[in-house]
Amino acid sequence: MSVVRSVVTGVGAYLPPKVVTNDDLSKFVDTSDEWIVERTGIRQRHQAADDQPVSDLATEAAREALAAAGKTAADVDLIIVATTTADLTFPAVATIVQRKLGAPVGIAFDVQAVCSGFVYALSVADGFVARGHAKCALVIGAETMTRLMDWSDRGTCVLFGDGAGAVVLEAGEGEGTTSDRGMLGFALRADGSKQELLYVDGGPSTTGTVGKLRMLGNQVFKHAVVNISEAIHAAAEKAGVPVSDVDWFIPHQANQRILQGVAHRCGIDENKVVSTVAIHANTSAASIPLALAHAINDGRIKKGDLLLLEAMGGGGLTWGACVLRL
Ligand code: UT7
Repeated sequence: MSVVRSVVTGVGAYLPPKVVTNDDLSKFVDTSDEWIVERTGIRQRHQAADDQPVSDLATEAAREALAAAGKTAADVDLIIVATTTADLTFPAVATIVQRKLGAPVGIAFDVQAVCSGFVYALSVADGFVARGHAKCALVIGAETMTRLMDWSDRGTCVLFGDGAGAVVLEAGEGEGTTSDRGMLGFALRADGSKQELLYVDGGPSTTGTVGKLRMLGNQVFKHAVVNISEAIHAAAEKAGVPVSDVDWFIPHQANQRILQGVAHRCGIDENKVVSTVAIHANTSAASIPLALAHAINDGRIKKGDLLLLEAMGGGGLTWGACVLRL
């Protein structure tokens, strides 16, 4: 049976040039390279310049993804940006990216699911493309998380970084089997009762300020491994593939110990795990497309590979997983 799938046809990434090492942080926060590496695996993070809004990062990643897909801005009819660090309260970053790219009038909006934002946005875009409402979609995860840091809180400020990653999604004909390229299965989850574990303490309708990120890290850690594993199995079941068939596991990059814990729990070989947490830290919604671009650029991930993406984070909590064939 012929089916229309939304297929990733191009991937791009952008990291701001400024690199901040753990030693750099230890000059003004009571921390050490040793502690950060041992507890998280993080060695460095990128930080956007003061005059670099998240839309600039998103636009650079989008340009690279379009070039990889052999498309131009003129082809784009849908832009979804997953972000929790918008330039302004409104308009959506997606419309600013549309203007900066010079893309024509089309559909453009943001998705707010924090660290799970990219998986949520991919699922939304899949709906538009697979049902024929868009032909060429840009799905972007972009964050300037360092703007939300309380630099006196060592429990959070050492964990996050800035960056953007993007994919182009286009419609492709499939046979309706797991050999098809494209999105094969999703599992999205949210639990609004866990807000106090991870949130930002400001907003336009409460404090009128942007606020700072607050996290009960060890409690989020405990939820992460258990919840993600359930979503991974649910996405694989929807896709109709055993988790053991996956070629590459591209998790949200929050903590090396979480990546390993989830892989172990799901029986995923550690050689299949793409990890960029050491060099990017936690870039929230940007972390999955950044890691995807990294492993495509270094030659590991190739067209036709079966990929498993998963994320977990604030915004509820929210979490989710996706199985796709590149
Ligand atoms: O993407 C969003 C999802 N977020 C996550 O997935 C994050 C999940 N959580 C984590 O990754 C870990 O819980 C952390 C890395 C945040 C913390 O690691 P932990 O092993 O859970 O440490 P902890 O919070 O239990 O703290 C242990 C100790 C404490 O000291 P005492 O009370 O034992 O004396 C902290 O004060 O480590 C101390 N500590 C630090 N020490 C040096 C906390 N942060 C630091 C630091 N440098 N940066």
